[in-house]
Parts: sequence; structure tokens; C-alpha cells
Amino acid sequence: MDENIEISFGGRLHKFPIINGTEGEKAIDISSLRKKTGLITIDTGFKNTGSTKSSITFLNGEKGILRHRGYSIDDLTNKSTFLEVAYLLIYGELPNLSKLKTFKDNITLHTLVHEDVKGILDGFPSKAHPMGVLSSLVSSLTAFYPKSLDPNRSVEEINGTIIRIIAKLPTLAAWAFKNRMRQPLVYPNNNLDYCSNFLNMMFSLPTHDYKINKIVSNALEKLLILHIDHEQNCSASTVRIVGSSHASLYASISAGIAALWGPLHGGANQAVIEMLEEIKKDNCNVKKYIDKAKDKSDQFRLMGFGHRVYKNFDPRARIIKDAAEEVLNSLGINDPVLDIAKKIEKIALTDQYFIERGLYPNVDFYSGIIYRAIGIPTDMFTVMFALGRLPGWVAQWKEMRENNEPIGRPRQLYTGNISRKYVPINERKN
Ligand code: CMC
Repeated sequence: MDENIEISFGGRLHKFPIINGTEGEKAIDISSLRKKTGLITIDTGFKNTGSTKSSITFLNGEKGILRHRGYSIDDLTNKSTFLEVAYLLIYGELPNLSKLKTFKDNITLHTLVHEDVKGILDGFPSKAHPMGVLSSLVSSLTAFYPKSLDPNRSVEEINGTIIRIIAKLPTLAAWAFKNRMRQPLVYPNNNLDYCSNFLNMMFSLPTHDYKINKIVSNALEKLLILHIDHEQNCSASTVRIVGSSHASLYASISAGIAALWGPLHGGANQAVIEMLEEIKKDNCNVKKYIDKAKDKSDQFRLMGFGHRVYKNFDPRARIIKDAAEEVLNSLGINDPVLDIAKKIEKIALTDQYFIERGLYPNVDFYSGIIYRAIGIPTDMFTVMFALGRLPGWVAQWKEMRENNEPIGRPRQLYTGNISRKYVPINERKN
């Protein structure tokens, strides 16, 4: 039976349909609200506003559920490879062996970037943050592939752009790191799998080849899957809204990387390690930092805690916490910040402030500890998040284009001056 919601305004009753998602979620379709009533809705930060219908990722923040295309994040992380899950997100189904082989072969074929990219990279000071470098380099791909500027080209050509960005992002990311270290660039090695190739480009030097460690490449594979998509978050929404103006995929992904950079989004993984290091230096005084986080006159927040959608345990954080223990044990690393992190979690989970607000560790709380253990420097953490999130952004962009969504253009409630008379400069009082 069709359900409606009635809004009484201006002495009349107006009906708006309730639409249903496949997981029993309901939404009020207010697209005709302004036409019928002259009203708009306001919801700063989109805390309660759905921007689209999507069939890519389902999450239920109250129950701590995360599924991609219907498959649980636990199954995908434990049973699939990153490229398999990337295929699932982008094309809608898990690939069979032959489809996966073709997808992998295509990606492997395009890992090299144009030699002129090195000239652009050279222009960056060595202190440049790798996220800024990465975002710029991705945008620069439009210059090397001008046909990609038109997102209305054939399915085959769009697919070519999709393959290229997935193939080249690890190369660009590793080169952003090498540029910062002022070390010679390492070219992709197409005999290696996706994660091992990235690690090789990061850590090989002319003086010695990087020896691939399976524990490390498996840990990276797991982390990339855990970050692959998270429905309409800040960066995915950015990718969709930039793409909705018919900007190219490269331009949209470049914008997504910029959105991810901030410490309230992907940049939190870097901020967590910096926070844990600060606590370590401060005699591991965990209580002091818990109190600071609760103090409303203090700007300090417990980084890696809280989430816009999860008001229960972030399922990714659970998997990452176990993986962090496992990786550190396998590599024989004893990192004191892991103990500090566990101590913070233990205290916060029994503290009324955190309980009342539903603040739990999120995906970023333990991921930095693994990155550090596998040799990734702190300012590359958010780049790692971008590598993992890329297929999600691509899937969100593709879905938005295939659904022929209109340009994203929110309304506003104007609160500035009403119309006033222009005052010539010599007559102005202030
Ligand atoms: N430490 C202390 N208090 C917090 C924290 C925190 N990390 N997060 C939220 N709160 C409090 C906040 O002060 C507010 O309290 P009150 O109701 O008394 O004013 C209440 O909890 C609700 O917070 P909010 O800022 O209104 O919630 P939000 O949904 O707008 O923000 C968030 C979500 C993730 C930006 C926020 O929790 C935060 O800043 N966390 C730390 C940064 C972080 O870890 N970000 C990574 C998110 S997961 C990766 C990703 O997907 O991007």
C-alpha cells in the first residue's frame, strides 16, 4: 500500500509520498515541496537528508551493519581480494575467474604514467603534503587523456578511463611519496599484484630491491577493502556533485581526494597517530586526554572516535583492531601506541559522555597503527585511504551518471541584508 505523509501549511494539507529502500528504510520524497508550498527544507551538514538512491553500499549505523552490493564487509575482507571487491562495486556483481582475469590484466596494462607527469611532480616542493600532490596529479591526467573530459562518451571509453585511474593511482601515490623523500622514482612492475606493486614502488631504492613480505601485502589488501566505500560520505558526495556538472571522472576523483584530506574525514588516520604520539610523550596520561575531549571549552576531540552514521560500533574498526594485533605480532613489532589506543577505547566505552553520544572507535582509530607497522609514513596515511576508497568513488560516479542525475545544486535560506541603497565610497562612514 502506498504511504504518504501530510504536511499542513497555509491552511491546506499537502501530501508527499513515502518511498522505500530494499532494506526497509523509508524516506519522504519532498521533491515537490517548494512547488506545492513555497517552502524549502534546511538540514545543514545533510544530517537527515538523502541526496540520492543508491544500490552500492548499505549501512545501518544503529546496528553496526556494512554491506557492499549485499555482501557483508566481514566476508569481503576475509574472502576476497581488493580488485575483486573493486569489480563488485563498479560493475555490480562479483566477477567469475575469467572476468576477474580480464579486469586485472587491463589494470596491469595501464600502471605506467606518462613520462611528462614527472615534470609536474618536480614542480612540487619536497615538503608538499602528498594528498595535495595526489589530487593535482589525478587532475593532470585530463591533460594526458583529453577525450576523458567528455563523460558522455561510449561505455567502452568510460570504462577505459575507469581502468586507467585504478591502474595509475598507486603509481601516482608512490611517486608523491618518492618526491617528498627526494628519492628516485620507481616504475611499476607488472609481474607483481596490485598491493605488492605499490609497496615495491614505495620502498625500492636503486641500492636495493624491496623484498615483498606476504604479511605486509595481505594486511594492505585487507585495509584497502575495508576503506573501499561508505555510501554518501563527504568525499563520495563530493565526487558525485562534481561529476553531476558533467566534469570528467579524473576531475571528480581529484575533488574527492581533496574532500578526504580533512581531519574530520580521511585525514583522521594521520591525526590519530599524532594524538597517540602526543599522549605517549605526555607520560601516557590517557585520562587527561579523555577529560580534554569531554571538556566543551576545549577544542580537542578524540580523533578516530565518533561517526556521523555509526552510533554503534563501526564494524570496520572491529576488523582493523584484530588485524592490528595480528600484523604487529606477525612482524614482531611492539608499538606502545597500540596499548595507548586500547586503553583509550576501554575507558571511553565505559564513560557516560561517550556512551550517551554513541561515540565508538571508527575505521581510522587503529588503521594508522597498521600503516606504521608496515612502514608507511604518517603523512601518507590518508593517501592509503584514498587508494582504498578509489573504487567506491568510481562506482558512485558511474551510478550517478548512469542514473542521469541532475546537477547537484542545494538551496539556501538567505539570512543577509535585505535590499539597500548603494553608498559611494567617499560617503561611507566606517
Ligand atoms: N571526541 C569528543 N567528542 C565528540 C567526538 C570526539 N571524537 N565526536 C563527537 N563528539 C561529540 C560532540 O562534541 C557532540 O557533543 P554535544 O552533543 O555535547 O555537542 C556530539 O558528540 C555529536 O558530535 P557531532 O560533531 O555533532 O557529530 P557529527 O556527526 O557532526 O560528527 C565526526 C562526526 C566523525 C566528524 C565527529 O565524531 C568527529 O569529529 N570525530 C573525530 C574525527 C574522526 O575520527 N573522523 C573520522 C570519521 S570515520 C572516517 C570517515 O569515514 O571519514
